Amino acid sequence: MKKILVAGGAGFIGSHTLLALQAAGYAPVTYDNFSNGHRDSVLVGDVVEGDVRDRARLTATMKEHNIDAVVHFAALIEAGESVKDPQAFYNVNTGGSLALLQAMQDAGVARIVFSSTAAVYGQPADNAPLKESLLKLPINPYGHSKWMVECMLRDTAHAHGLQAIALRYFNAAGADPEGRLGERHDPETHLIPLVLQAASGARDNIKMFGTDYDTPDGTCIRDYIHVHDLAAAHVKALDKLFEMPDSAGSSKSGFYDAFNLGTGSGFSVREVVQAAKNVTGIDFNVIEEERRPGDPAYLVADATRAKSTFDWTPAYPNLEDMIEHAWQFANK
Ligand SMILES: NC(=O)c1ccc[n+]([C@@H]2O[C@H](COP(=O)([O-])OP(=O)(O)OC[C@H]3O[C@@H](n4cnc5c(N)ncnc54)[C@H](O)[C@@H]3O)[C@@H](O)[C@H]2O)c1
Repeated sequence: MKKILVAGGAGFIGSHTLLALQAAGYAPVTYDNFSNGHRDSVLVGDVVEGDVRDRARLTATMKEHNIDAVVHFAALIEAGESVKDPQAFYNVNTGGSLALLQAMQDAGVARIVFSSTAAVYGQPADNAPLKESLLKLPINPYGHSKWMVECMLRDTAHAHGLQAIALRYFNAAGADPEGRLGERHDPETHLIPLVLQAASGARDNIKMFGTDYDTPDGTCIRDYIHVHDLAAAHVKALDKLFEMPDSAGSSKSGFYDAFNLGTGSGFSVREVVQAAKNVTGIDFNVIEEERRPGDPAYLVADATRAKSTFDWTPAYPNLEDMIEHAWQFANK
């Protein structure tokens, strides 16, 4: 059984991926400092408490657990926070990834799947689905911190035979369809859980920032991807890396590629709010506010490369399913 170090496995997407890895016959080992994740979200596999910036601890963990590959989620994720405290983001996201790559080299582990983001593209010039080949022009330190990691993966693949796949997620949403796990960010900044907090009465209202964008109903459009489908894509990406001959310690050039993960369909903020009212049957208070700086009107993935390369099709592309699963979890 192949053993997979899952850095950030106690977080939202990581914890769901642990279940998918185990169901696919991999043995996950979570490595997390629990700064934002939850110990009780790790439902399967061994757990090691540690910081992703700790090269020595990572190396020892990989050797001790005979790790075959790494899936790397561990990061600070709040783009707005990254503007206020950029060094924290470069420290954890970029510095942590460098320490992890160095530890992989120390331990002779050559395969990695990395959590990248649509934020690497920045502010798209028009309302068209984004292809991977677009110029990377992040508009905040979070996006830069992730794009720098992709550059490290590319260059390390070339120099040291690393085999790396970066997955650029759009908006992760939903919860485990079987109700075992869900989104527990604190503070919560993602639209669907916030809308559901308004539905449950945990907050008084939901604010819509900007109603005059160049979109059909004036609100921003995003590509929501179910966390179950994100988890499945990580398994497919790992399978792909294991199809390649192991290049650890060899002088041969390795592999690096990046893939968008989204459904390819966009939903506006108004549509999300309406879908949440339909799913919950609750009519909550919505307040229209001015635009926030740095919010692009339209961010939708062209995910055709991921679909064809990994033979991956989202099982839950419907917004109502994502909201339904998140609502079930919120009510548990
Ligand atoms: N949630 C989204 O919509 C989204 C979109 C695009 C990309 N991503 C990326 O996906 C990954 C996972 O996102 P998430 O929503 O599950 O976030 P999350 O905050 O729930 O999970 C991140 C995990 O990393 C851990 N972590 C943070 N700093 C660490 C450190 N220094 N050492 C060890 N562990 C550390 C946290 O404790 C947490 O368990 C992140 O890399 C994020 O940038 C998320």
